[in-house]
Amino acid sequence: MIQASHLSMIYGKDFKAVDDMSFSIGKGEIVGFAGPNGAGKTTVIRMLTGILKPAGGSAVIGGYDIVKQPMEAKASFAYVSDNPDLLLQLTGLEYINFVADIYHVSEEDRKRRVPELAERFGILDSLKTRMREYSHGMRQKLMIIAALVHNPPAWILDEPMTGLDPSAAYELKQMMREHANAGNCVLFSTHVLEVAEKLCDHIIIMNHGHSLYQGTVEDLSAAHPGQDLEEIFLDMINYRSDDDGEEIK
Ligand SMILES: Nc1ncnc2c1ncn2[C@@H]1O[C@H](COP(=O)(O)OP(=O)(O)OP(=O)(O)O)[C@@H](O)[C@H]1O
Ligand SMILES: [Mg+2]
Repeated sequence: MIQASHLSMIYGKDFKAVDDMSFSIGKGEIVGFAGPNGAGKTTVIRMLTGILKPAGGSAVIGGYDIVKQPMEAKASFAYVSDNPDLLLQLTGLEYINFVADIYHVSEEDRKRRVPELAERFGILDSLKTRMREYSHGMRQKLMIIAALVHNPPAWILDEPMTGLDPSAAYELKQMMREHANAGNCVLFSTHVLEVAEKLCDHIIIMNHGHSLYQGTVEDLSAAHPGQDLEEIFLDMINYRSDDDGEEIK
């Protein structure tokens, strides 16, 4: 459902932020995207969603190449960016309707889905307030609702849990599972390894623009007996020098 093939990105003259990233996400899968700050996760996500044009490689979503068939590809995914501070002069409902217009969501679908999603995230009462007055977490919830209102098969979420309170984070995790179980797919980046461990069918770990691991958490744990995911992750990104956990950087 999502295929990245040899994606690479160069910023400025020669800084290779992403180098030859390939992965594939099938129907029914939730994939967690982990890696330290600056690893290249957001850059990969921006190439997948057509915000950045890859310097090399290609991305196909729902069977459509994001560069060659952008309209069709964009209709097949929902995207939550890592920055929820967009269009703050609009009310929550105005923003949702703005996004729903772009995706041609029918009046009937809006009437059903918007209250349902807003209720699940506990912001039904704030939909008519300007987003400028929202807290960070409320803005994040609104971005998620607006992204999901057209109910596309692929969800691409850049750090969607950031700023969410525990009940909203719980709802979002449930929704991701429901969405995958209905034969769709979810790719989300996160720094919370416990979430990746509990929720994901596969994880992708990257650093310095490269893929370090792709597969299940179980396989990764089996290859590193006696270590928890955090320790394995820190070793992988070379944060720790030895087994007693002493920091060297
Ligand atoms: N517009 C830009 N111009 C130049 N360099 C950039 C730009 N955007 C990102 N970078 C650089 O590319 C690298 C990857 O950044 P990216 O935002 O993809 O990382 P990330 O894995 O999403 O990090 P985080 O966990 O902090 O969100 C970093 O070194 C960053 O400084
Ligand atoms: Mg990022």
